[in-house]
Amino acid sequence: MNILFAVSGGIAAYKAPKMVSLLREEGHSVRVLATPNSLQFVSRLTLSALAGAPVLSSLFEGEGDYGMSHIRLPEWADLFLVAPASADLIAKAAQGIADDLLSTTLLAVGSGESAVCPVVLAPAMNTRMWSHAATRANLQRLQSWGVRMIEPTAGRLACSDLGEGRMPEPEEVLVRLKEWGLLNATG
Ligand SMILES: Cc1cc2nc3c(=O)[nH]c(=O)nc-3n(C[C@H](O)[C@H](O)[C@H](O)COP(=O)(O)O)c2cc1C
Repeated sequence: MNILFAVSGGIAAYKAPKMVSLLREEGHSVRVLATPNSLQFVSRLTLSALAGAPVLSSLFEGEGDYGMSHIRLPEWADLFLVAPASADLIAKAAQGIADDLLSTTLLAVGSGESAVCPVVLAPAMNTRMWSHAATRANLQRLQSWGVRMIEPTAGRLACSDLGEGRMPEPEEVLVRLKEWGLLNATG
C-alpha cells in the first residue's frame, strides 16, 4: 500500500522512525511529511533513510511534482497517517488552516465523502493540552468530517505528569489500523 506518513512537533516524534521502519518491513511504500517543528525532535536523515525517500517539509520545495506535492500526495496515498499529531496540527486541521506542507496536504485530502484517502491522527501531548476544551472541540470537529483518531493512552508523560496523552507504541498503532481495515498485512 502507499502510506503517506506525517510527523508533527511533539516528544512522541521519537517514535516516528520505528513507525516508518515497521511500515517498510511490511512491504508498504512510505512517503514522509514532517513539519519544520517536528524536525527539532527527530532527524530528517533518520526518517529519509528509513523511508528510502526524501522527507518533505516545505510547501515550496518543488520536488518532482512541480510544487504540487500537497495535491498529488493524497491522491497517491491509500492511507494518510499523522503520528504524532500535535495539538497545534489538530487545531489547524479543525480550522482548515493551510500554512505549511502538512496542514495544506491535510486540507487537500478533502473531507467526508469527497476525501481522496482515509486520514488517521495519533494525538500525543500533555494531559492538560489533551483535555483542554479547545482540543476536545477540534477533535470532535475532525471526527465529524471522517478523520479517525488513535486515542492516546495514560501513563507517565515526558513532562513528568501522569495522565492521558501518550501516543501508543508503533506496533499498537499498526494493530489498530489493521483492525479498522485501513492497512493490509503486507504492502
Ligand atoms: C520540549 C517540547 C515538547 C513538546 N511536546 C509536545 C507534545 O508532545 N505535543 C504537542 O502537541 N505539542 C508539544 N510541544 C509544542 C509543539 O512543539 C508546538 O505547539 C509546535 O508549534 C508544534 O508545531 P507543529 O504542529 O507545526 O509541528 C512541545 C514543545 C516542546 C518545546
